Amino acid sequence: MNLDRKTFLRSLGAGALGLLATRALGEIDGDPEQLSAMPVWNPADPEAFWRQVRVQFPMTPERTYFNTGGLGPAPRRVLDMLTVASRQLQERVETGHDFFAQARVIVAAYFGAKTDDLCFVRNATEGNCIVATGLELTAADEVIFESHAHPGGSFPWLNRQHTEGIIVKTFEPDPDRAAGNVERIAALITKRTRVIQVSHITSPTGIIMPCPEIAKLAAQHKCWFHVDGAQSAGMIPVNLPALGCDSYATSGHKWVGGPHETGVLWIRGDKMKEVVPRQVGAYSSEDVNLNNPGPFVYSKGAHRYEYGTRDAAAVLALAEATRFQNEIGRDRIAARGHALADRVRAGFEKIDSVEILTPKDPVMCASILTFRTPKMKHNQLFEHLLVDYHLRCRPVSEVDLDAVRVSTHLFNSVEECDHLIGALDEILKKA
Ligand SMILES: Cc1ncc(COP(=O)(O)O)c(C=O)c1O
Repeated sequence: MNLDRKTFLRSLGAGALGLLATRALGEIDGDPEQLSAMPVWNPADPEAFWRQVRVQFPMTPERTYFNTGGLGPAPRRVLDMLTVASRQLQERVETGHDFFAQARVIVAAYFGAKTDDLCFVRNATEGNCIVATGLELTAADEVIFESHAHPGGSFPWLNRQHTEGIIVKTFEPDPDRAAGNVERIAALITKRTRVIQVSHITSPTGIIMPCPEIAKLAAQHKCWFHVDGAQSAGMIPVNLPALGCDSYATSGHKWVGGPHETGVLWIRGDKMKEVVPRQVGAYSSEDVNLNNPGPFVYSKGAHRYEYGTRDAAAVLALAEATRFQNEIGRDRIAARGHALADRVRAGFEKIDSVEILTPKDPVMCASILTFRTPKMKHNQLFEHLLVDYHLRCRPVSEVDLDAVRVSTHLFNSVEECDHLIGALDEILKKA
């Protein structure tokens, strides 16, 4: 078989999942043992370690990928898990409830959460929608979030404004002071404020929001506090109870390195009854005898928000992605991404006309660096970097920022960052 059997068995656990380990996988180029061997940290040669990490990602060498904030690559181990689990489910012709149950335990532990408080969704947007549609609000109730919110975080509320007359209020994120963000939210709160939402790390410019402080403010005003964690899970270690929020949604297919169409929604157990499931089906409630239905009782825990037949292989592969990160070391991953972003920052600061929009305070930034230049529109700059230098960044058009975003993650290298700095320098010299 084309992957490390021990790793695979360990990740699958016992029981039905163990069956997977006896299956051969699809073709992988190169020595399978080498490709799947977990790197061993050596403080004397960290770059050798990170090179070995890079080998775990089957990404094309034809371009350099700096857009994990948009979509992250999955390591081979995760793709292997997806393939084998999927094939086994097809062979058994089973839905894979056992896979869901095991994945829930693993992923909940990754977030420091109780298993019952977490459910699997298809992406952060879906998790945000479950909260935004589930909270009982009436016309003129107010919701506050940042003006840099991604459509996956803002549209669910704007839709309720459109259909039900709730009022959306936005604040511009403060890139200079973390406390400034708390103050800007506080300035918008009225007697009608019911919900405060922030992106844990904002998508356009990578500002880390002070969630525990915002949580205190929300509690003082009896507001629901929801965090859109699409940019934080997998970039920095996230302990959900410590964040202080009532609910948190994230994607698995960005920084965590899970398969496409995976995500997680967490709702604090004692508050779950406030988020009414608007979409339900099999598994949202105990079986009902339609001859004598009785009261409709939701399933225990966040399980109630999952319904119908789902891709259990993808969920199991997401759990594998969290194990992969744990084995590399989550603090180590966060520090690496941050150090690479700092390296890009230091290089860009030497280039005339480049303005960096991401805060420099290490408490307010991590593995995203967003910049702009008056010399060129963001789309043109993005195209140059991609077409002429094979550097895949992300154009930032939100709220007229006219910028380009760079995401640096565990598979990126120092050389790639230096290539980006050199490319920008060349482009702007010619502009
Ligand atoms: C803060 C934030 N929320 C939500 C999303 C949407 O993610 P998805 O498409 O996985 O739901 C993104 C995507 O970049 C994001 O940055």
